[in-house]
Amino acid sequence: MTGKAALVSGAAAGLGRATALVLARAGADLCLVDIDAVGLEATADQVRAEGARALVQAVDLAIPDNCRSAVLAAVETFGRLDALCNIAAVFIPCHSADMSNEAWDRTIAVNLSAPFHLIQAAIPQLLESHGAVVNVTSCAAHVGQAYTAAYCATKAGLTHLTRSLAMEYMHREIRFNAVAPGGMMTALAAGFRQLQDADATLVTRYSPLRGLVEITDVADMVAFLASDAASGYHGACINIDNGITAG
Ligand SMILES: NC(=O)c1ccc[n+]([C@@H]2O[C@H](COP(=O)([O-])OP(=O)(O)OC[C@H]3O[C@@H](n4cnc5c(N)ncnc54)[C@H](O)[C@@H]3O)[C@@H](O)[C@H]2O)c1
Repeated sequence: MTGKAALVSGAAAGLGRATALVLARAGADLCLVDIDAVGLEATADQVRAEGARALVQAVDLAIPDNCRSAVLAAVETFGRLDALCNIAAVFIPCHSADMSNEAWDRTIAVNLSAPFHLIQAAIPQLLESHGAVVNVTSCAAHVGQAYTAAYCATKAGLTHLTRSLAMEYMHREIRFNAVAPGGMMTALAAGFRQLQDADATLVTRYSPLRGLVEITDVADMVAFLASDAASGYHGACINIDNGITAG
């Protein structure tokens, strides 16, 4: 990735931060985007310690104009954009009958609409650089999971968005792929334990029998798909879930 620039959403923590660090070590300059300004600065320090340039964009990606301005800022600063890694997401477990309109709308806006608006803004740049989009979905895109219906719907939607864009740009120099992780030990996963009155027999159906997935394993795959080394990958949805979706 030397001489290239990548935009990573959700870069303030968890998988986004880990992916930014892998890309920085591979030589990329980073546009780091997240709603969490404090976490972003910590990631930027780590990225710069790897010798990469870092641009910090502390914005709410649920607002479409913020998606467009984040992409524009990356291009203005680095003069190019080679990879867009859509990693930011919210996870609001609840009983579906009790889900508020706000929680539903927020989940759709952050997990599905924001990736689309970032992609829309980035497509002209990525066509120029022969670049790549990597969308982080979830094993929840492939198996229904209780108490997270909105989250599952957005991740299934993002998977199909990935495939649909891969078809639309089949003959162009741009690649669209997705990575579907299983449970990783991040702040997002910790949120699930706060749900009261969950039926444990339903939750254990998608509990990881082989344990959680290493964040670095997923970050390595996202960075790989963002790079030219993955030139044969287009429209792929790669599961890294320690077997959750095996059966
Ligand atoms: N952790 C898991 O078990 C797990 C499993 C499967 C998939 N995933 C996916 O991996 C990705 C990374 O999640 P994570 O586990 O690192 O979680 P995380 O909560 O550590 O990171 C998500 C980041 O998104 C940011 N974000 C949330 N709303 C935003 C908004 N409106 N605008 C900008 N940024 C916003 C948060 O501030 C946070 O830094 C997500 O797409 C998630 O759905 C996670």
